[in-house]
Amino acid sequence: MIDFQDIQTDLLARIAASDQPRTILKTPELREVYAGIRNAEDKAVYGAQVNTLKSALEAAIATREAELTAADIAPIDVTAPMDVNAPIPALLPSERGTTHPLTQEIARVIEIFGRMGFASEESREIDDQYHMFETLNFPKGHPARDDYDTFMTVEKDGDGDPLIAPAHTSTMQNRVMRKYRDQLEAGEAIAAVVPDRVFRNEDLDARHEHTFYQVEGVYVAKGVHAGMLIATLKEFLQEYYGRELQVRVNPFYFPFTEPSFEFALSCPFCGGEDPACKVCSGEGWIELLGCGMVHPNVLRAADIDPNEYTGFAFGCGIDRLVMMKYQIEDIRHLESAKLDFLEQF
Ligand code: DAH
Repeated sequence: MIDFQDIQTDLLARIAASDQPRTILKTPELREVYAGIRNAEDKAVYGAQVNTLKSALEAAIATREAELTAADIAPIDVTAPMDVNAPIPALLPSERGTTHPLTQEIARVIEIFGRMGFASEESREIDDQYHMFETLNFPKGHPARDDYDTFMTVEKDGDGDPLIAPAHTSTMQNRVMRKYRDQLEAGEAIAAVVPDRVFRNEDLDARHEHTFYQVEGVYVAKGVHAGMLIATLKEFLQEYYGRELQVRVNPFYFPFTEPSFEFALSCPFCGGEDPACKVCSGEGWIELLGCGMVHPNVLRAADIDPNEYTGFAFGCGIDRLVMMKYQIEDIRHLESAKLDFLEQF
């Protein structure tokens, strides 16, 4: 007959004194207890006794483990006076953290446009349909509204329309034009870029994220023409990629520009020389962004007379720019919070 009481007393004492209390579950005595079930007269009673013993041991092990962990951590006296002369411990590079690659690249985009005379503004993460569509010459019911996979909220704006998460930075065009409109009268141009987050209800894959970044550009003055748009973008991209590039425009359609263009650049990696290039898939050209001459209705919505002033605008995905610069193959890495990836920048 096994004396459960005896065994329990013995094992509890050993657990309380052990530095590795969990190893006690493997002692030969206990194995014998488990094996005893084979010969037990009443297996149900025996099994219940084994279970009681096991629970008692588990509880004691947990208590002992907690004691050991507490002892490992030196107590901190939060009331102790601080030694202001103590050297600040040097951080390992891994502890120092890095700025997110998108943050670095947005700063670079702002800096390049800044040198070209563009102010920078921030967008917002909730906006209304008036700025998302109406000011941009998409009246209610315009079919192109559906192209934007816009996230709607349950909150309504003053017109009773759901507030939205902006699906492009063009939502800021009207605000930027109004903010800087006085400069036109002073004979200066409106010149601003708006880099910020945008949101789309997209199916996700290596090239599509629901949350990504765009930079919007707006330039309005007297006598602005498409040549100035193309030169500005070319200059920016050459500066950003640090090399000479060819650029190409194709006609396109956006409600807020007329004419509208799709803007392509020669591959910043192979320059069109490598048929196996991973960045341009051997095409030599990369369709990068949308742009055009600001539609007269968009100027009117900002109380700017289109007979007196003209402007250009563009919208460029920043994630795309950055992915090409560093040859990042999957856009989802950028928002993944994976340190292995982020620490490379
Ligand atoms: N908002 C457009 C988009 O996200 C991009 C764009 C095209 C912006 C033309 C512009 C523009 O300012 O003129 O698809």
